[in-house]
Amino acid sequence: MSVSRAAGRIGDPAARILIVDDEPHVCEIMSRWLDGEGYNCHTANSAEEAWGVIKRNDLALVILDIAMPGQSGIDLLAMVKAEAPEMAVIMVTAMDDRETAIRALELGAYGYVIKPFGRNEVIINVVNALERRRLMLESKGYERRLEEKVREQTQDIRRSREEIALRLMAAQEYRHDETGAHVRRMGLYAEVVGRVLGHPQEYTDILRLAAPMHDVGKIGIPDSVLMKPGKLTAEEFETMKTHTSIGARILGPTTIPLLNVARDIALCHHERWDGLGYPRGLSGEDIPEPARIVAPLDVYDALVHDRVYRPAVPEQEALDVLRRGCGTHLDPAVLEALLAALTELRAIRGRVKEKAHFRARRDA
Ligand SMILES: [Fe+2]
Ligand SMILES: [Fe+2]
Repeated sequence: MSVSRAAGRIGDPAARILIVDDEPHVCEIMSRWLDGEGYNCHTANSAEEAWGVIKRNDLALVILDIAMPGQSGIDLLAMVKAEAPEMAVIMVTAMDDRETAIRALELGAYGYVIKPFGRNEVIINVVNALERRRLMLESKGYERRLEEKVREQTQDIRRSREEIALRLMAAQEYRHDETGAHVRRMGLYAEVVGRVLGHPQEYTDILRLAAPMHDVGKIGIPDSVLMKPGKLTAEEFETMKTHTSIGARILGPTTIPLLNVARDIALCHHERWDGLGYPRGLSGEDIPEPARIVAPLDVYDALVHDRVYRPAVPEQEALDVLRRGCGTHLDPAVLEALLAALTELRAIRGRVKEKAHFRARRDA
């Protein structure tokens, strides 16, 4: 019985094997033994010739003589491991060259046989190397499938997050007539400004989804106030201000980062850098940064678009308003980022336009 059959045919019996030795009779004899076991053998008499065969064929294993004129087997081993790390390599070495053989193992060879070798020794090494390669490929495949699964689940989570955000946006559009275009632009602006401020994409994605929810609390404001066409009385304005804390109650607290950021924005987007805002009178960096990002964007977008009670103002005028608010109403660093991002903000305005019949009533 053949050795590999005795070994239960482990390894791949149809595997392609390349035998590299500068002595043609060594190639011949090994090839005969391995062909006899059902393997598919190629031979080469130099490292250069072997490299050509390796590049042209899908090989499972290379049996590589270490001492060859020209490029050595060790050189070729390094090239194989760099270009085709999944290829198994067995080194063939002379009796007095164990040190080189050990170096070969360190470089990634699966085993070595010492000249003069016997048939069984070669075949057992081949079977072992192919089996080790099979297990390595199997475990790599398992890792790949696992990574794929994690990737899919991450995408699912991202999709469901976006879905939640879109549903909440739909709810607020339904209730208070804030334009859908405004809230969408707010998300896109916040994403850009977050990026200019140096935040990673994972975070700017959250800003894009959270910023549109800044006024979600208007759901809880009575129609008589929210829809009032004229100026609000002091009392009505106090009621209007509660859209911040109502929004915060709708959105959290929670352990979901997106909703936490959305909650910070809803609660704090009317706070002012100088502490004169509402609802809590926070100042400076005590105001969560996402809310500091949304505040000037909300003013900018409201000013450059028509409202029922006033027409749009030219962008320069809107920017003057923002600059006047720098350090009092607005965070100077955020304002600087907004000004640096103006070209992109304009492009977003060009892409996401109001529908003529759909106008925001209140900017509070
Ligand atoms: Fe707004
Ligand atoms: Fe608001």
